[in-house]
Amino acid sequence: MLSLPRFRVAALISLILINSSLKAESAIGVNWGTLSFHRLKPTTVVDLLKENKVQKVKLFDADPGALKALMGSGIQVMVGISNDMLATLSSSTMASDLWVRQNVSTYMVKGGVDIRYVAVGNEPFLSSYAGQYESYVMPALLNLQQSLAKANLAGYVKLVVPCNADAYESTLPSQGAFRPELTQIITQIVSFLNSNGSPFVVNIYPFLSLYANADFPQEYAFFEGTTHAITDGPNVYYNAFDGNFDTLVAALSKLGYGQMPIVIGEIGWPTDGAIGANLTAARVFNQGLINHVLSNKGTPLRPGVPPVDIYLFSLLDEGAKSVLPGNFERHWGIFSFDGQAKYALNLGSGNRFLKNARNVQYLPSRWCVANPSTDLSEVTNHMKLACSVADCTTLNYGGSCNAIGAKGNISYAFNSYYQLQMQNSQSCDFDGLGMVTFLDPSVGDCRFVVGLTDVSSSSYRPNCRWLILWFLILWGFWVFAT
Ligand SMILES: *[C@@H]1O[C@H](CO)[C@@H](O)[C@H](O)[C@H]1NC(C)=O
Ligand SMILES: *[C@@H]1O[C@H](CO)[C@@H](O)[C@H](O)[C@H]1NC(C)=O
Ligand SMILES: *[C@@H]1O[C@H](CO)[C@@H](O)[C@H](O)[C@H]1NC(C)=O
Repeated sequence: MLSLPRFRVAALISLILINSSLKAESAIGVNWGTLSFHRLKPTTVVDLLKENKVQKVKLFDADPGALKALMGSGIQVMVGISNDMLATLSSSTMASDLWVRQNVSTYMVKGGVDIRYVAVGNEPFLSSYAGQYESYVMPALLNLQQSLAKANLAGYVKLVVPCNADAYESTLPSQGAFRPELTQIITQIVSFLNSNGSPFVVNIYPFLSLYANADFPQEYAFFEGTTHAITDGPNVYYNAFDGNFDTLVAALSKLGYGQMPIVIGEIGWPTDGAIGANLTAARVFNQGLINHVLSNKGTPLRPGVPPVDIYLFSLLDEGAKSVLPGNFERHWGIFSFDGQAKYALNLGSGNRFLKNARNVQYLPSRWCVANPSTDLSEVTNHMKLACSVADCTTLNYGGSCNAIGAKGNISYAFNSYYQLQMQNSQSCDFDGLGMVTFLDPSVGDCRFVVGLTDVSSSSYRPNCRWLILWFLILWGFWVFAT
């Protein structure tokens, strides 16, 4: 299909007829983010997707490693453009041509990658960005659309703009409207999407509503029924997802696009790093969501019309994500960083449970812990340093390792750092306070990780010392040059 063999017209028409007579089925896709210290090989991740019969995947960039691994998989792909590339793409058609050539056309060959969407920016209208990307989005869309047209891909690859649900607001769904300062730009974008047959992509997070607001009725975040239903004229809302979705429907209606198809670009529940982020809650939320969407019930404003697709956030934990939003940010995966299912989840694609990644290549089974025979009173700085680089989010209040005691804390920090440094023996020294052990120090739900062997990935981050060294080298050049 991607090599575009010439169908005969009759065949094409009958295909279209068959397609349109089929009932629209929402698909459950996943977000594949790669901000991890321990990255699985891309081919391992693609095998994981296939094993779990995941048909759609959303990327945050156009990572060549991921795209190469997706070649020939038949999985439909949304590639992404980061916000910091928008300025360039908005100001130069040469840049957009090049982007499309390097990151789309190259892969759209026989046995290549089935790229269906390009996400132009990621939540570029987020209120916390204070409008810094706003003016680039529309010109970038227009440039990229032309570049796709030149590459003969404009009919097949759709441009979309994933928006955070903070783009619209309202207490009652039927009163939904985009934020006043966004009305003009969103109107332009929605009109563009509409003329290209693209859906509106939105990220919805009932967890964050609950996290940010102690008064938010907890059951309303889930799909199990609630004593806090919201009555909106003739309509009653039993869960935050439907309420939020219909707020968007109302906001789109106000702009004249009440029928625009909607895709959920991100939705999910974290399992660690906050009160309310745990395995049970994540399983109940995600399973409730999947069942709800696949039931084709739709919402009060769109009965029988569920979102076109939803992309769970996220496939894997990403231990290198910023914790600015909260410690839970590194724990959204339905799988842990190493591709092991965290809980039972039926994605509705035939498997009753998630299947684990296979052939994961771990470093040797050893850990770094606090040496029990030394005085650990001097350890604070070491621990701080370790945790400033490695992931220690589970140690905090609400985390799975919060109750392992003072010494446990130190060991956990030491080990996270040691694994991050690929078990380099010097990285477990800590001035003699650390020691390597072959006994798994994990306690209860608190897991002491063992890293993965793969460092070839593009997201491998140099440690601080290297950064400082690089800085000194660059500074040297600068001094030399001036
Ligand atoms: C293609 O995408 C990659 C990864 O997102 C990015 O680093 C690169 O700059 C893009 N290529 C062009 C020509 O913009
Ligand atoms: C898990 O989180 C839910 C809400 O998100 C909360 O009601 C429940 O008490 C938590 N469970 C545990 C064991 O902490
Ligand atoms: C372990 O560290 C966490 C996070 O800094 C802290 O909340 C907890 O109180 C510590 N535990 C002990 C026993 O010091």
